[in-house]
Amino acid sequence: MQYLLDKSNSAIENKSDCIVVPVFSSKKKEIALQDSAKMIDIASDGVIKDFIATGDFKGTLGQTQLFYQLPAVKSPRVLLLGYGEIEDLNVKSINKATKAACKALSSLKIKSLCFYLPETSNEINAESAATQIIIAHADAAYKLLDYKSNDKSESSLKKVSIAPSDNSKGDYKTAIKNGAAIAEGMKLSRDLANHPGNVCTPTYLAKQANKISKAYSNIEIDILEEKDMEKLGMGAFLSVSKGSDEPGKMIVLQYQGAKDKKDAPIALVGKGITFDTGGISLKPGASMDEMKFDMSGAASMLGTLKACAEMQLPINVVVVLAAAENMPSARATKPGDIVTSMAGKTIEVLNTDAEGRLVLCDALTYVGKFKPSVVIDTATLTGACIIALGHHICAVLSNDDELAEEIINAGNSIDDRAWQLPLGDDYKKQLKSSFADLGNIGGRAAGTITAGCFLAEFTKDYKWAHIDIAGTAWTDKDSTGRPVPLLSQYLINQANT
Ligand code: BES
Ligand code: MN
Ligand code: ZN
Repeated sequence: MQYLLDKSNSAIENKSDCIVVPVFSSKKKEIALQDSAKMIDIASDGVIKDFIATGDFKGTLGQTQLFYQLPAVKSPRVLLLGYGEIEDLNVKSINKATKAACKALSSLKIKSLCFYLPETSNEINAESAATQIIIAHADAAYKLLDYKSNDKSESSLKKVSIAPSDNSKGDYKTAIKNGAAIAEGMKLSRDLANHPGNVCTPTYLAKQANKISKAYSNIEIDILEEKDMEKLGMGAFLSVSKGSDEPGKMIVLQYQGAKDKKDAPIALVGKGITFDTGGISLKPGASMDEMKFDMSGAASMLGTLKACAEMQLPINVVVVLAAAENMPSARATKPGDIVTSMAGKTIEVLNTDAEGRLVLCDALTYVGKFKPSVVIDTATLTGACIIALGHHICAVLSNDDELAEEIINAGNSIDDRAWQLPLGDDYKKQLKSSFADLGNIGGRAAGTITAGCFLAEFTKDYKWAHIDIAGTAWTDKDSTGRPVPLLSQYLINQANT
């Protein structure tokens, strides 16, 4: 999909196959039409006002009405789109409205589409509205890749443009470029995660990462094989991958966007368990297929890297993907086995299903060698996170409250929400092992927090935040591409400071 800025500027002259025109609802009786709707109304002899006078259309959030062949309007289709009260306009309502428009247009044969931006309130500026519309559109237009053998219908839509309202000035070019880049990153992330486990293996992830590094001259890749990891003493990672015939990989990508190669990078670490059976602590059968999504953290980091490269952000970024398959086998780690992590800490593997923290702790130790300014990891780490926050909000745990706040703010400004949970010694105690420095589980209580405490033992040398995406990475057997928007926005904010 091509996303661009519309310069025709007039809703009457616009030649797109469809134009989407915003309408706000009003507590007062009369709806005040926005410029684009007003122009159309005047040119077409009051069609819009007469229609609104019927009382059938109130401009409530997500309400739509399609008009065809309005006189004196060049576009053959005009979609009125309700945005709700202007005072309530925010990224979330823009997201909702855009998705409603996409739904209303989904079966139409259109090649080009133009969104007129709504007038914006002080809650949101017009640029982030433009970015949000693109992300929401791409999200709604995403076609689930499938493996069905019958013919596939391709969408006819090729071009989506954004038309700012007449008098607003702003850097729409950047806003649209950013939106398109984030949309691409999300798509990459979703595609990777949606592939079944027999396709998306650690080797496949490495190949896709390689493709990314080839596509951008300022991205370099280094892949640590199991024998390399043995030399580095990554006993925690290897205790997970050893049960599988698929070799584990630690995939390391370096993006140099800053002028100075030596600028401290932002490090992004992703959990890449391409299938999580639980290992010898085998999971129950119901919904186990969804454990193909257990590499969503890695997918989101690769997606974010792609977005970052597309936006050409002037920062340095290092990405580490801890990719392995968690399988039961004669060679698999058994409950009670004790392993030594790269950091030197010994770990009693009390439950082989708590494998995410095992691959991550070595990745987090390894990434320290890049002397990062901050480290952020994303992982579908705990089922407990779904119990705590459901499928709407990611959990953030950090050894630096300011960093947590920056992450949460970035997410809020792009409708990709996160919420902080605490860390602390009271919780850390739950990880005690009778035989080793640490156990890999902390009991039923506060499962997301104890998992965070486990990782925190390996991240003491730098500012670090962990994002648990167990509830948000997928819904209804489809990857969401989250938290690519949050992370991309975080990187944009860092580039601007
Ligand atoms: N990948 C799972 C967490 C998960 C479960 C994410 C369901 C999304 C949906 C993780 O590896 C896991 O199995 N965690 C265990 C930890 C426990 C053994 C301490 C869990 O949450 O049950
Ligand atoms: Mn598991
Ligand atoms: Zn897992």
